[in-house]
Amino acid sequence: MTEISASAPGKFVILGEHAVVYGKPAIALAIDRRFYMTVKRDDEFKINGEAADLKANPHMRYIIGRNDMISVSVQMDSKIPTGSGLGSSAALSVAFSAAIRALSGKSLKEAEVAEEAFEAEYFSQGRGSPMDTSASAHGHGIALNVSGKEDDRLWDISKNEHTWNISKIEVPAMTFVIGYTGIRAATGPLVEKVRKYKDSNRFALDIINEIGQITLEGMDALRTNNVVELGELMTKDHKLLSILGVSSNELNKLVNASLPYAYGAKLTGAGGGGSIVALTDQPNKVCDAIASRGGVPFIVKTGVEGMNVSKKE
Ligand code: PMV
Repeated sequence: MTEISASAPGKFVILGEHAVVYGKPAIALAIDRRFYMTVKRDDEFKINGEAADLKANPHMRYIIGRNDMISVSVQMDSKIPTGSGLGSSAALSVAFSAAIRALSGKSLKEAEVAEEAFEAEYFSQGRGSPMDTSASAHGHGIALNVSGKEDDRLWDISKNEHTWNISKIEVPAMTFVIGYTGIRAATGPLVEKVRKYKDSNRFALDIINEIGQITLEGMDALRTNNVVELGELMTKDHKLLSILGVSSNELNKLVNASLPYAYGAKLTGAGGGGSIVALTDQPNKVCDAIASRGGVPFIVKTGVEGMNVSKKE
């Protein structure tokens, strides 16, 4: 019986989360924490050997629905903490889309998997951008809605009134430390919180535009390897995200603990709980500072490959 193994990486956002939902620029890097799964046809839907309800797994339900409703059993294992702001549900969607498409004999082009996984995320959350699924499908580094060389363009994804141009970027030779608060936070409600704020407060749109502007400046800092400038922009971005209401005491604590040893630090992903990311050349000191404030630190390796699929007959 054909068995497909697939994996896909998590990511962190250097700059631009939340504003990217409104078509603003963003920059994300894939990390060495992955979602792994093995998928094969079966009489009923099973997860890790147990019968499971497709309705309780909306990402998978959407992907199965788009691929002839094939019935499968899935063995899965994730090294990306759920609700950590590191793109675990996008990595699940990318790996599952790639696996199901491989089983159904469909194209495994990164662009098609990224789009299908984005639609699965949208179906599950009712909102969001294609940043996470694009970063997970392609791996390495991506920028959204940032002008650059035509050769760097990977794909475009449109939904409702927004279009995102996705380009590959060179992964910077910089050290980033993640600090996980240990608090799970679902992405959907935080994106919704920003939407409500934007609809009820004229000044929220200024903040979103400012995040977009900072991200463009950050792209220049990345291209010129200017860690001082990039770090300052990251910390500024954290302040703007705090104004949008997506930071928390725990996130602020970890950002503040990191800053004496970092060029900059900010929450990454949806916020609420989840993680921060610090740009530093003293990673061990940042790790100690994060741990001393109750966070779980890890130095991330970047420049990792995107989705990976293999078939065993
Ligand atoms: O928390 P994560 O890893 O799902 O990241 C969410 C990023 C947002 O910009 C807040 C939402 C999105 O879909 O882009």
